[in-house]
Amino acid sequence: MKSKLPHTETSIFAVMSGLANKHNAINLSQGFPDFKVSQELINLIYKKMKEGKNQYAPMPGVIELRVALAKKIKNLYQLQVDPETEITITAGATQALFTAITAFVGKGDETIIFEPAYDSYAPAVKLNGGIPKYISLESPNFKIDWDQVEDLISDKTTMIIINTPNNPGGFVFEEEDMKRLEELTRDTNIVVISDEVYEHIIFDGFVHQSALKFHDLYQRTIAVYSFGKTFHATGWKMGYVVTPEHLMKEFRKVHQFNVFCVNTPIQYALATYLKNEDNYLSLPKFYEQKRDYFVKELCNSQFKVIPTHGTYFQLLDYSELSDKPEFEFAQWMTVEKGLASIPVSSFYHDKKNQQILRFAFPKKEETLAKAIEILKKI
Ligand SMILES: Cc1ncc(COP(=O)(O)O)c(C=O)c1O
Repeated sequence: MKSKLPHTETSIFAVMSGLANKHNAINLSQGFPDFKVSQELINLIYKKMKEGKNQYAPMPGVIELRVALAKKIKNLYQLQVDPETEITITAGATQALFTAITAFVGKGDETIIFEPAYDSYAPAVKLNGGIPKYISLESPNFKIDWDQVEDLISDKTTMIIINTPNNPGGFVFEEEDMKRLEELTRDTNIVVISDEVYEHIIFDGFVHQSALKFHDLYQRTIAVYSFGKTFHATGWKMGYVVTPEHLMKEFRKVHQFNVFCVNTPIQYALATYLKNEDNYLSLPKFYEQKRDYFVKELCNSQFKVIPTHGTYFQLLDYSELSDKPEFEFAQWMTVEKGLASIPVSSFYHDKKNQQILRFAFPKKEETLAKAIEILKKI
């Protein structure tokens, strides 16, 4: 049988989490919280289930939720979107990404991807016959050279995928980055996917530069979000996209056949829960404290701390400690030292090795304390 992804292996997240479980290691590899989801939100879902909200939702999502999101978008990004035509609720951000890529990338189409990149982008492009064109960003600053992007854009470029705040890089796009992207794509047919799943996890006074804030850029953008990241519930696989009507029409043509609609009671519950904006506006402070707790002690270790301004991931450089390539070092640390992380090389198609590992810090203080103890002793 012919493989459509002959060079794709099991995702690194599954590999490292599997290794962590096998060796009973502290798992800072995959990005999921080990603390509880809000009891209020859980109660709301239970209530909606008891009220009988258990059948198929409308294909684009429950309208109450889309209206609540439109309000949030207006407040945060000063953009008035029509909840009927510009928002669709998805089964997490990954399904939204796959649907968006499938809707707009065809055989021979080129998609520009900045690496390090979330691992679903390139396989989705390839499954649709598209060609990923990579721009490699380097630790510790991961600065984008927009002239290089300009050079890479060709008449075959149909899509550019950006991700801010960035997983795994922990960097954020600034206003000038977005303006440059807006300029480069003006008067083209390029669709931009703006992966903004960490929109509320941003620190050090940085402001999230959503593509929704840039009028002309928005006209060609599909912005992707994840309730799993925002409400500490990655297992629910709930997300949404925001895009102008002309792009949404195409998005929904695919969405209706790869999932049709998503979890009904959770959508109703989220519509109510979103009314209290503290439920998401409290996130920067909450996660900044966790980041600070995690990195403070590591300044006295052999690891070099790479600044993280957003997301709940911290990169640590181990070049003072070992010459081992990243995957080998991460495996060794999991098996021998009991702490699992993710090699950043797995976010590059060419497995670029910079001797850095990614640690997820959406964890209880006691989990982070145990990880710090291990890291300080290495
Ligand atoms: C950058 C990025 N995009 C998308 C996703 C997927 O989000 P979801 O769990 O909602 O599918 C993740 C999850 O780790 C991510 O880090």
